Amino acid sequence: MRKNLKILMAAAEIAPFAKAGGLADVVGSLPPALKKLGCDVRLIMPLYGSVNRKKFKLKKIHSDISISSGGRRIKINIWQTKLPNAAVAVYFIEQKKYFGAKKIYAKKGNAERFLFFSLTVLDILPKIRFRPDIIHCHDFHTALIPDLLKTENRPRLKNIKTVFTIHNINYQGNSETEVLKTGNLSKNSLKTLTKDARDGDINFMVQGILNAGIITTVSKTYAREIATSIYGAKLDNIIKQRKKDLYGILNGIDMDSFNPEKDKFIKTNYSARALDKKIENKLYLQKKLNLPANKDIALVGMVSRLAWQKGLELITEELAGLNCQFVILGTGQKKYEKHLKVLAKKYPDKFSAQIMFDAKLARQIYSGSDIFLMPSRFEPCGLGQMFAMRYGAVPVVRATGGLADTVSDFGFRISDFGLPKKASGFTFKDFTASALQHKLKQALDVFYNKPKTWRRLRINGMKKDFSWNKSAKEYLKLYRSLAGKN
Ligand code: GLC
Repeated sequence: MRKNLKILMAAAEIAPFAKAGGLADVVGSLPPALKKLGCDVRLIMPLYGSVNRKKFKLKKIHSDISISSGGRRIKINIWQTKLPNAAVAVYFIEQKKYFGAKKIYAKKGNAERFLFFSLTVLDILPKIRFRPDIIHCHDFHTALIPDLLKTENRPRLKNIKTVFTIHNINYQGNSETEVLKTGNLSKNSLKTLTKDARDGDINFMVQGILNAGIITTVSKTYAREIATSIYGAKLDNIIKQRKKDLYGILNGIDMDSFNPEKDKFIKTNYSARALDKKIENKLYLQKKLNLPANKDIALVGMVSRLAWQKGLELITEELAGLNCQFVILGTGQKKYEKHLKVLAKKYPDKFSAQIMFDAKLARQIYSGSDIFLMPSRFEPCGLGQMFAMRYGAVPVVRATGGLADTVSDFGFRISDFGLPKKASGFTFKDFTASALQHKLKQALDVFYNKPKTWRRLRINGMKKDFSWNKSAKEYLKLYRSLAGKN
């Protein structure tokens, strides 16, 4: 029998404690699946001012631990709890100056904050008495952990292996070389740092890619895309250097929590067998949003960070000419927020702009929509389309990254002969408003004129298995191959 692997996952966000995007969902939902496969997996994140200590039953387990960082001694406390509904330990690093604010990401100084966090991850291991076989780092925030492990100062931790997961290659963490001091590093500590520093700054993502044992990203298509100049965000050549250690593993979702049969946040529960009840969720949503309540008109939903990545430029005024309603929920860049508010003001019967972060309303949108829109410019994995299919909404998405890997395209059909066996949505290739409109029109045509086909598309989506089971096994295989190497 192989011994159980010990895995420590380090991330800037973990749901339900603190979340800005899909990263939090992934780090909060993959570990229970790994635990079921026999891993001793534990998590670690910073303790932000916004983490609800009472609700999540955090306990302080160590006080006033002194961390030596850039010639200073900085005191931290360690708190601990478990993931709700799973026996997975979660550690939190409390350090008021760095993490005391409510927001996960500060306006400035993130490189320093997260390098300090990365340093503590290694320094507290003896305190929490955990000696992981593998540290699994997520995104640029923890991308310097492999560097820290490679420097001479840590002979005891030398054999710990690292996995680095890229959730989004566009957030790279560039910073002045000065910041390295925080991690007791300098540009001479490693060859990769020396080289990286030649242009005057350090790129955290580059370090993670070059120094981690294995690199993964969150879909197979995105793994291919980031090795190209279009999607590589200027790191395609760095990615190519590590191509043989790069794997695409599709994210899963928490199928228990996101379950239309049991979800407590939606108006009426339903399943693929009792799909007609879904309509009540639509009528409820239309009323709540002040859109005309009409079960016969198609409702198109979007739940998204309002960022460049998400293709909001393609949501143009022309869409108001289509026979459907739109609801868009999310926050982000001001120009997109404004654009959506203007549309909603001008076409109150067609557009509803919900500029906020609201996890409950998000579920009401998945359950109340007929169509779910994701016109992303790029999309490493995307979770929204999976939630939508789980709730019987039909995705219309751009064929990129994880969207291409999860939505089976209905394609062009001349006749309606036979029902689609696998198709669960509609995909378009060109990043243009007209390509989006074209696809949306095709979807609306099926919605209004081919009800049996439409029903089958929804059922096909609802039957897909988006659980972590398969992907957790793929991670385990990688962990094992790494831990076997010395
Ligand atoms: C990022 C990506 C998104 C992915 C998520 C989790 O937010 O933009 O596509 O689903 O990370 O991996």
